[in-house]
Amino acid sequence: MSLSHDHDMAVSLTQQDRSRRAFVSTLRSHVLQQMSGDLRQHFEHSVEPEHAKSGAQLETPEAIHEALREEFPFKAYSSVRTAAQEMVFDVVSDAVDRQLEVLNEKATKPATHGTLKLDPLLPLPKNVTGIDVHLSPGGYHTEHAEDDVTAGAVYDNSIDVFAFGQFGKQHNDIGTTLSNYLRLKYPDFSPASILDCGCTIGHNTLPWAETYPTAEVTAIDAAAPVLRYAHARAESMGIAAHFTQMNATAMEFDDAQFDVVFSSMFMHELPLKHIQLYLKEAFRVLKPGGILWQMELPPMNAMPDYENFYMNWDTFYNNEPYYGTFRKQDYKQLLIDAGFRAEDFVEATMPRYTFVGESAFCEAIQDNNTFDTLTGRMDPKGTRWYGFGAWKG
Ligand SMILES: C[S@@+](CC[C@H](N)C(=O)[O-])C[C@H]1O[C@@H](n2cnc3c(N)ncnc32)[C@H](O)[C@@H]1O
Repeated sequence: MSLSHDHDMAVSLTQQDRSRRAFVSTLRSHVLQQMSGDLRQHFEHSVEPEHAKSGAQLETPEAIHEALREEFPFKAYSSVRTAAQEMVFDVVSDAVDRQLEVLNEKATKPATHGTLKLDPLLPLPKNVTGIDVHLSPGGYHTEHAEDDVTAGAVYDNSIDVFAFGQFGKQHNDIGTTLSNYLRLKYPDFSPASILDCGCTIGHNTLPWAETYPTAEVTAIDAAAPVLRYAHARAESMGIAAHFTQMNATAMEFDDAQFDVVFSSMFMHELPLKHIQLYLKEAFRVLKPGGILWQMELPPMNAMPDYENFYMNWDTFYNNEPYYGTFRKQDYKQLLIDAGFRAEDFVEATMPRYTFVGESAFCEAIQDNNTFDTLTGRMDPKGTRWYGFGAWKG
């Protein structure tokens, strides 16, 4: 588990914090590797052959879910995974709560690199306020005090525990990987303005400023506490980024303002209608010649049925109600409906840049689309991220 933060918003941890975090992290890793492997074995060696005897084919993720839901290995996997998810937020909240006054105070320091613009009158979307998304109490938006950063601090700390180091030391591997993909694949493309939508704490925003140091980097999110934290975190790391509270489905930017519109793990938290609005907005704010480029869960049509069943677990048991509907979409068609041309569609799977290094990364991206069980999944054996988007012709 990575405990490295290297910024002033990091909380200090007691020995007990560390032990509790390490325990939950190990439990998560155990569920996602050992128990999920056991579940798959049970499916392949027992449930599937049993159904085959009576001529039933389990050929859809829904059928696999139905066949497994009363089975002990599925119930065990689901309950331990849900308990571990709740424990993630429980164990990180102690340290955040103890140091909250100091964190909130630090976040009000005058900025020297980037900016923070909040809009207290912005109506918050229901997908943010209506549920404790992925079982995180209070979600991204709840305010516990004036100028509160709790949700941001909890999110940052929870990544360490939740992802058992798989997002990289600064939790920035996705942003680093997707920005370097563009730099290496399209060396003549030199963006001057980059927008990250649904940035949360900016951990995947900041790598864009590192990959394209002359570009102006802007990031938006609907929730104020995560933006305050994102801004303070970026300031203390000495990286210039402009954080603004704004709804990505109704942006206040001018037409043709950005060379890159990026998002990471954003769309699967939106209802389909909002995804469609967001993509139309992304098309509108992109300059001709610019690119929409986003990391997301791989589409269902690219993955085997069992993987789809496994990935869509979150829709039913992790307060991620939009996950399954999003993955069912034809991503290229979503972009065409938003105004992009079919021939400008781009997609790729890629290894994690901060883990494999530039030369292995370059070699891997020669071959664009290898969908396998490591695509879009956190796995120490070598997660592969999925990116898709389109050039604006
Ligand atoms: C899963 S998080 C994104 C995580 C982050 N981009 C990353 O790379 O890990 C989703 C974020 O989208 C924000 N969000 C949800 N709906 C939004 C909307 N309509 N406009 C702007 N932000 C929104 C939430 O507040 C939350 O911070």
